[in-house]
Amino acid sequence: MTPPADLDDIIARHAGREGALMPILHDVQAAFGCIDEAARRAIALALNLSRAEVHGVVSFYHDFREAPRDRPAIKLCRAEACQARGAEALVPLAESQGRVRVEPVYCLGLCSVGPAAMVGKDVFARLDAAKLASLIEAAV
Ligand code: FES
Repeated sequence: MTPPADLDDIIARHAGREGALMPILHDVQAAFGCIDEAARRAIALALNLSRAEVHGVVSFYHDFREAPRDRPAIKLCRAEACQARGAEALVPLAESQGRVRVEPVYCLGLCSVGPAAMVGKDVFARLDAAKLASLIEAAV
């Protein structure tokens, strides 16, 4: 697979700055939905890094993806405060639909109004089964 045409633009936008790898990875992820092998190779070449170094960073942060997602993701908080407010009961509801990928996160800073979830960059609080169903409906 060849890198997308404007991958070069993203790299050029950040290449001269210190610590360019992370902003490039964020922009590539946002533009293309993943950081595939061709993009990792091009980034490594541009920043004079090994492919292993770039791969190591991409694989370390689970929000970076090496392939596009097959389904939208809902990040459901599984930390203690949300557990105490019933988050665990929502997990099978979300997973049973099979229309979204349910990913655990551990605190979204909404502990007092949990259960909480994140879709994209938006956060949602006071989830119950009905709100979760409408969240899933909006995400797909
Ligand atoms: S514990 Fe869920 S938002 Fe903090």
